Amino acid sequence: MKNVSILLLPGDGIGPEAIAELKRVIDWFGAHTDLSFDITEDDIGGAAYERYGTPLADSTLDTAKKVDAIVMGAVGGPQWDNVERHLRPEAGLLTLRKELDLFANLRPATCRAALASASSLKEDLVSGLDIMILRELTAGVYFGEPRGIDTAADGRRRGLDTQVYFEDEIERLLRVGFELAAKRNRKVHSVEKANVMESGVFWREIATRVGKDYADVELEHMYADNCAMQLVRAPKQFDVIATDNLFGDILSDCAAMLTGSLGMLPSASLGVEQNGKRAALYEPVHGSAPDIAGKGLANPLATILSFAMCLRYSFDRQSDADLLEKAVDQVLAKNIRTTDIAADGVKPVSTSEMGSALLEALDDISS
Ligand code: IPM
Ligand code: MG
Repeated sequence: MKNVSILLLPGDGIGPEAIAELKRVIDWFGAHTDLSFDITEDDIGGAAYERYGTPLADSTLDTAKKVDAIVMGAVGGPQWDNVERHLRPEAGLLTLRKELDLFANLRPATCRAALASASSLKEDLVSGLDIMILRELTAGVYFGEPRGIDTAADGRRRGLDTQVYFEDEIERLLRVGFELAAKRNRKVHSVEKANVMESGVFWREIATRVGKDYADVELEHMYADNCAMQLVRAPKQFDVIATDNLFGDILSDCAAMLTGSLGMLPSASLGVEQNGKRAALYEPVHGSAPDIAGKGLANPLATILSFAMCLRYSFDRQSDADLLEKAVDQVLAKNIRTTDIAADGVKPVSTSEMGSALLEALDDISS
């Protein structure tokens, strides 16, 4: 028996619906493997703001620091649009990332075989696609100082953000990128805007230096705008894309859509390994989708696949992760689809029907 602790943070919008299905999956793994789960649940984002008056309560952060892994649903919604910035739902997530130093954000864009025709791109461009976007998550313009809205010396009002990267922040991110690539297709695209940004010139310099330590991995530098274009032109040229916080945010949404639906993509945000433990937060790449929340239309698979990443990266259970991914593929192959990935002429299933189908597939594959 291996006992592991998980903090579940359902959050807002479709987050709670997706996490409800994930709980059934976790129960399944508790009953059928040697893992036993110690589950705590708490609020984040708008839900936490309503309950605690802040999008991430100190007590929640304390728990987050203690558990082996965190799985989050999603945060945000129009009802909090006018709340002060530091109290907005997104601020809760950003604080969590920063406080746990979750600098390495892994966003795999994998096109599952059954979904190649659901992509907005031609099927042959995306079938078999397997990209890993590695996004820096705790620095750059998301956190740089100074920032704010103020009035300059000449009396004109201005909005200000700062893009800043320290050498060690770039280096540790790139090292994760090269290590990932070494186990994949041995190619890293380091993405910045060295043609216009000083921080981009610096990023490129560090990437080049770090790259020398990984002789068997090929390094290519690419401007972020070109990368966006190449992603929709010929996405299979990429293996690992290593980039900063803001470019990574944008490019990962773009890459996600290549795979058929934003509703399919998981992510892992990993911290520094200390005493054999590494802080880790798993969350779908998609947002809270307030327009469909509470209607049973949400696709829970991105959240469930995020748990597969958790099995792989936090609990070192490769075969359990493989099993869960295989179950997802089996369900999709049977044309069991939520609305976002619905196959032509087949009635879409609800969020909980998708959960049930997945449990059946797990039973089926493991029996
Ligand atoms: C993401 C989201 C977040 C981000 C928001 C919700 C703060 O878009 O995880 O990609 O911008 O990082
Ligand atoms: Mg985003």
